[in-house]
Amino acid sequence: MSETAKIILDGKEYVCPIITGTENEKAIDISSLRSDSGHITLDFGFKNTGSTKSAITFLDGEKGILRYRGYPIEQLAEKSTFIEVAYLLIYGELPNPKELNYFSNSVGRHTLVHEDMRRFFEAFPTGAHPMGILSTMISSLSTFYPHSQDPNRPMEDIDLTMHRLIAKMPTLAAMAYKFAMGQPTMYPINKLSYIDNFLYMMFGLPVEDYEVDPIVADAMDKLLILHADHEQNCSASTVRIVGSSQANMYSAISAGIAALWGPLHGGANQAVIEMLEMIRNDGGNMQKWIDKAKDKNDSFRLMGFGHRVYKNFDPRATIIKKACDNVLDKMGIDDPVLDIARKLEEVALKDPYFVERGLYPNVDFYSGIIYRALGVPTEMFTVMFAIGRLPGWIAQWKEMIENREPIGRPRQVYVGATKRDYMPMDKRS
Ligand code: SDX
Repeated sequence: MSETAKIILDGKEYVCPIITGTENEKAIDISSLRSDSGHITLDFGFKNTGSTKSAITFLDGEKGILRYRGYPIEQLAEKSTFIEVAYLLIYGELPNPKELNYFSNSVGRHTLVHEDMRRFFEAFPTGAHPMGILSTMISSLSTFYPHSQDPNRPMEDIDLTMHRLIAKMPTLAAMAYKFAMGQPTMYPINKLSYIDNFLYMMFGLPVEDYEVDPIVADAMDKLLILHADHEQNCSASTVRIVGSSQANMYSAISAGIAALWGPLHGGANQAVIEMLEMIRNDGGNMQKWIDKAKDKNDSFRLMGFGHRVYKNFDPRATIIKKACDNVLDKMGIDDPVLDIARKLEEVALKDPYFVERGLYPNVDFYSGIIYRALGVPTEMFTVMFAIGRLPGWIAQWKEMIENREPIGRPRQVYVGATKRDYMPMDKRS
């Protein structure tokens, strides 16, 4: 006998089925509630509302658990590579050697972008934020591949679009950086690994040889793995809802990049460093800024703290914090901003305001410090997040299309003016 929930409205009883997931998460299926009872539910920010059933990522905010296709993030961060994790998220299983070789080679063959795209870069104003550039460039890819407009094309065409996106994202990101620096762009070298190719395009110069530092490459690979997916977060939900209108994959991913840019979401990694530098420049008075973050009349928030789901530690933050210590130690970097971050975390987590609300450091709190140590400029931090999150967005889009989910169209409760007649100009006050 399947479980049900009974809702009593105006004295009438409505029975809704209970859905139970493989990790025993439970949901009340209200699909017929409006047609049966005329009522909808209301849940600002969808804090308590599921939008889909998904087999990609499982996370438990109370226990600090994160798994991609059942594999714990701790194991993947330690033993896997980003390109292998991308395959796992998109296709659902760890690749065998033949599958990994095919996937890596296919991605490797599509790293170039059409030369016409260089003119787009020249049109952006100096100082344009790379997230604005990246979102635009990814969307414009759809104009170079008109056949990719239809998301219901044969799987091999969908595969090609997915591989093109994964291949070209680092190229476009590095081009955005080089144009911002006024430096010549570096063409990809396909014999390099995914990460080494990206580092080469970012930091290489045509006037000298560029040697990839294995410490940097390893840290970058781990960071991209940790950012690869996070179930129905703001940007993944954006990708799914844009894709649900049957818009092409490039447009859906471009919308995801735009959503990620926000400082409450992926833009937090840039905002964290800017906050830590502000605290340092203000004399390092932690308590002053913690008090501001607690003050309801003050819009200041501790960036990098808190999470919609993790009300305990964010497992990614734990791994990144360790990697942070390791990378800075190996590189011999003594970054005063890291000292401020550690002190801030220590002071905040003694304060009942943060502990009572489960406001712990999230994935963005320490990632910016590592990116800084790796030589990534602050404005590129969220671009790094986007490169990491791309396979997750693609996997979410693919699952939505394969499950033939309906177009996303939430309802509302109208609270505006009731019916009134048009008022002629001479009657208006
Ligand atoms: C990411 O969803 C995902 O999975 C996202 C992500 C991913 O991988 O995709 O994990 C990546 O986006 C991480 C989050 C990065 N953002 C930040 O670090 C920005 C700072 N954090 C917040 O703005 C906030 O914590 C959110 C946006 C992350 C979560 O906000 P919620 O779930 O909507 O919680 P809320 O705003 O309702 O806050 C609950 C309470 C409120 O106080 P009370 O009304 O209960 O008194 O906590 C307070 C908030 O004022 N609060 C904070 C705070 N975050 C929440 N107070 C001070 N500083 C903060 N950072």
